[in-house]
Order: sequence, then C-alpha cells, then structure tokens
Amino acid sequence: MQRVLLAGFGFMGKKHADVYHLFPDACVVAVVDPRGEDLGESLRASHLEGVPVFASLASAMEEVEFSVVDICLPTDIHRTIALEAFAAGKHVFCEKPIALTRSDASDMTLAAHQSDRHFMVGHCIRFWPEYITLKRIVDSGEHGRLLSLSLSRRTGRPSYSIDDWVNKPDRCLGAALDLHIHDADFLLHLLGAPEAVFSQGLRDETGWSSISTQYLYDGRIVTADGAWNYPANWGFQMRYTAVFERAVLDFDSRSALTLAAGEAEPIALLMPPHDGYYHELAYFIGCLERSETVSISTGDQASASLDLVLAEIQSADTGKQISLK
Ligand SMILES: NC(=O)c1ccc[n+]([C@@H]2O[C@H](COP(=O)([O-])OP(=O)(O)OC[C@H]3O[C@@H](n4cnc5c(N)ncnc54)[C@H](O)[C@@H]3O)[C@@H](O)[C@H]2O)c1
Repeated sequence: MQRVLLAGFGFMGKKHADVYHLFPDACVVAVVDPRGEDLGESLRASHLEGVPVFASLASAMEEVEFSVVDICLPTDIHRTIALEAFAAGKHVFCEKPIALTRSDASDMTLAAHQSDRHFMVGHCIRFWPEYITLKRIVDSGEHGRLLSLSLSRRTGRPSYSIDDWVNKPDRCLGAALDLHIHDADFLLHLLGAPEAVFSQGLRDETGWSSISTQYLYDGRIVTADGAWNYPANWGFQMRYTAVFERAVLDFDSRSALTLAAGEAEPIALLMPPHDGYYHELAYFIGCLERSETVSISTGDQASASLDLVLAEIQSADTGKQISLK
C-alpha cells in the first residue's frame, strides 16, 4: 500500500485525490496546502475528511508516515518541494510542466537520480486512451505511414487558479507552456525530437496566450496549436487529425474518436473507461508496488518536453526557426 502526501489541493490536487480513492493499493494520508482552514468541504467531497492538512512538508513529516509526495502545486514551486521530498527519501509524482526553467528541471532530475527514488511527471496525454490509440496505429503501421498530424488544445483563460498564479507570466509562462506542453510532450513520445521548430505566438499581460508551431520532421507535416484566448463559453477542447497512407484518425474531445479507412464509412472507436489522469497514476503506483523503474513520463523526458516548448517560445519571440539537432 502506497501512502501518499498530496502537496497542493487545488484543481489538480482534487483530481488526483479522486483517482487515488479508486485504487486499492494507494491512499492519501496527508495534504500540504497553506489554505488548510478553507479546505474542509473540498476534502470531504474527495473522501479525505479527517486527513490532516499541514502548512509545510517538514511539519507533515514530523507527524505522518508516507512514501510518496504527489506535487500539484503552482509550477514555479515544483522544484523546492521536489528537492525537499527527494532529500527525505520520498518517491515523487509531479504535475506537468516539470518546471518553468531548464535549471530548475535539471536540479530536480539530478536530485531524483541521486536519491534513487522514483520520479514521474504528469504528462497525462501519454496515458490518454485516444492518444494511446494514435501511437499504437502509428507504431504498428497498420494503415500505412503517418503523413501528417495536427494537434490542438483550446480553451478560455483559466480563472480558477489560487492567487491567479496561472495568469502571471513569471509563475506560468502562459498557454504556450502550461497548456501546449501536453502536445509537445506527446509528439516527443510519438515521433521523437523534430529537427527544428518554427512558431508564432501571441503575448499579452498574462504571458504567451497562444502558440502555433510547425515541427520539422523528415517527410511529414506536423503542426500543433495551443491557446487559452478563446471565449469562456468555448469550454475545453483537445483534438487531433492524423492522416495515414490508407486512413484518417480524427479525435475531438467533444465527440468520438473516428477512423476513416479505405472506402468504408468512418467508424467510432470505443475507448476503455477512465481518462489519462487515472491511467498515469495507476502506472506510477503500479511501478512502486512492483519496484519497477518508471520509464514513461520520466523526469528526463519531461525536461526534454520543457526544452522543446522553450525552443518554440524562442522561435515565436525571435521570428526565427530554431534548430534542435
Ligand atoms: N495535467 C493536467 O492536465 C493539468 C491541468 C491543470 C493544471 N496542471 C498543473 O498542476 C499544477 C497545479 O495546478 P492547479 O491547476 O491545481 O493550481 P491551483 O491553483 O488550482 O492549486 C494549487 C494549490 O497549491 C496550493 N499552494 C500554493 N502554494 C503552496 C505552497 N507553498 N505549499 C503548499 N501548497 C501551496 C494552493 O493553495 C492551491 O490549493 C500546475 O503545475 C499546473 O500546470 C496540470
């Protein structure tokens, strides 16, 4: 049984708590969040009534035994708590993006390697059923080569974050990092590193609110856009279209995943239950339970995803293509 401390009990902390509640081999035994007094109702709603809330990891460690720290904190403070957790010999699951800067990310991966503890970053799209299906079809070649792929993530400006940290450029960097990194990370997982990127972006007082990138791969057209400058009533949308030699796979979070192959009518593909948040945490807890090395969405992979997005931002900023080789 893995005893988990949740650091941060906002939007993602609650999501993780709801997932752990479904697992027989993990339980949340403590929460760290400075809003301790205000969390009663949210804790109850996530089946964590009576779980102690601490103001710091150090104070939690004095009173509660746990082996895992699950970091759902604003991105600019991931590094501090991750280093503290590794120094205390804890396994760490950290929400994406790993950090805001290369230097913070490399401090975190170094600390993980030195501690010999497990470290995973929450790049949940690697675990999202519709994207797992895309990777399976690309890898198998069953519909021929992948010729082109476009990926999108679109939403209104996030309004829920505590202290509005998401809308402060020095704490988040905007949609280009916070939202779009999901697709950038998935591309690395699917196709490896591109030769170069060319991006255009829109910047406002909250950071890069929109980014659109062409990824240069040999013989394929690959593009992705991520934006949170849509009207609030747009809701959240993620989508992709993958064109293969003999089929098109099309996904929109507002409808089903469809496959159009040959002359046949497009068919809707049935997906397994649960989303990527469930599957990524199930994988992480499973690795811990079986003492298996985490190999999907590692700290090093998350650092590479951060590097890719930072190159895209550099391209948008300078108007130049950025080579990655
Ligand atoms: N995987 C995804 O799809 C996804 C979606 C949204 C957010 N995220 C990521 O999850 C992380 C958290 O985002 P969120 O949306 O949950 O933010 P949030 O603002 O909703 O929650 C952050 C929580 O951290 C607490 N907190 C702030 N400072 C703290 C400190 N020093 N010590 C302990 N707790 C502190 C806040 O009180 C709050 O409860 C971010 O890195 C974000 O990018 C991932």
